[in-house]
Amino acid sequence: MTQDELKQAVAKKAIEYVPAGTIVGVGTGSTANYFIDELAKIKHKIEGTVASSEASAERLRGHGIEVMDLNSVGNIEVYVDGADESTRHLHLVKGGGGALTREKIVAAASKTFVCIADESKLVGRLGAFPLPIEVIPMARSYVARQLVKLGGEPVLREGFTTDNGNVILDVHNLDIMDPVELETQLDHIVGTVTNGLFARRPADVLLLGTSKGVEVLE
Ligand code: 5RP
Repeated sequence: MTQDELKQAVAKKAIEYVPAGTIVGVGTGSTANYFIDELAKIKHKIEGTVASSEASAERLRGHGIEVMDLNSVGNIEVYVDGADESTRHLHLVKGGGGALTREKIVAAASKTFVCIADESKLVGRLGAFPLPIEVIPMARSYVARQLVKLGGEPVLREGFTTDNGNVILDVHNLDIMDPVELETQLDHIVGTVTNGLFARRPADVLLLGTSKGVEVLE
């Protein structure tokens, strides 16, 4: 199976986690796009969605699916999104698409976070994928210096502005031994908005697309 077929398979499987009559949190990226396409097939069964990016909102609306403001809805039953890396503890690195802040907000507001990914995303230790950090533009250099002190090599994502008007530093070579501790440490650097570690609020379920079928990790 190709990587796209594996992504499609997990997107299809994720529909089983969507309770009828509820508001669904929707992530960002190519795997989440497959999920949006699957969601379109059952759109009459859900109340609406909350999107984690302008791109996903546009795709959802393109399918005639209602996109709601998080402030006007209560808690979300289920949030479905991809990841750049996941461990078997369901600690994630996210933000390859630059939507990490809204993704973390929607994940926090959701009862269940279902992560969908092809098998290439499963790792023993996080950090081979450069860790994205959303930063307030005026703090870019200051934050970069703090990241260097932590042993990382921050690289500005050139020509990219987030949906929130900020920049992204992709941090290479971080030794992520303790994702919960590092997530907290990075959150304390003034000028960062969000870091791409999803460890304090990990996924609840990982649907992993493999050549043998979809593996469910909980
Ligand atoms: C976007 C994300 C995505 O979930 C992550 O980049 C995975 O993307 P894809 O499904 O295209 O591999 O965090 O900010």
